[in-house]
Amino acid sequence: MWKILFVEKVKIAVFASGSGSNALNIFNYFKNHPQIEISLLACNRSDAEVLKHAQSCCIDTVVFNKATFYAEESILHVLKEKQIQLIVLAGFLLKVPDVMIASYRDRILNIHPALLPKFGGKGMYGMHVHKAVIEQNEKVSGITIHLVDEIYDNGKILFREKVDVLPEDTPESLAAKIKILEHKHYPEVIEKFIFSTLKKES
Ligand code: GRF
Repeated sequence: MWKILFVEKVKIAVFASGSGSNALNIFNYFKNHPQIEISLLACNRSDAEVLKHAQSCCIDTVVFNKATFYAEESILHVLKEKQIQLIVLAGFLLKVPDVMIASYRDRILNIHPALLPKFGGKGMYGMHVHKAVIEQNEKVSGITIHLVDEIYDNGKILFREKVDVLPEDTPESLAAKIKILEHKHYPEVIEKFIFSTLKKES
């Protein structure tokens, strides 16, 4: 099945809730890619900055609220209708429902702004992560890109990159250093994952 789909481009849906700097970076990276396209931006906040990025990059969007996301399978239907093969979470704050995980088993990627398994789990997002890292006097932090399963920040780790936490670092300065790592690595890891995993199945 993947063989046929590889003749066409592999279609990715990006899920994001916020400002979407990673999403925008991913849109730009894959803009003229011969084999991969970003086909959809899924977002649970109608006022999210990331929607503007999607519009400026001419990427279709679907906006939903939390209740719809969990109560119905309408988003799953949209994904199927658009023949989405991979879901990429980029600052998506809702937990992905089990039915979606089952339908996209090992086909959902997430990026976390710390070195999992430390500093992960429910409530560990955004500045909460960086504050905790600084409070616990960690000497290194970094990014983790992993598969998503039914448990928060628990899926198989695909990639980690470290950055030093300096004595003068604040949560804000650490966040800025980590954002640079995210932008540098996330698109490449997505691309490598597609070629090493989806292509192998063709
Ligand atoms: C990133 O730090 C990512 O690690 C986390 O959510 C944040 C999203 O940031 N999952 P942005 O909206 O892409 O700037």
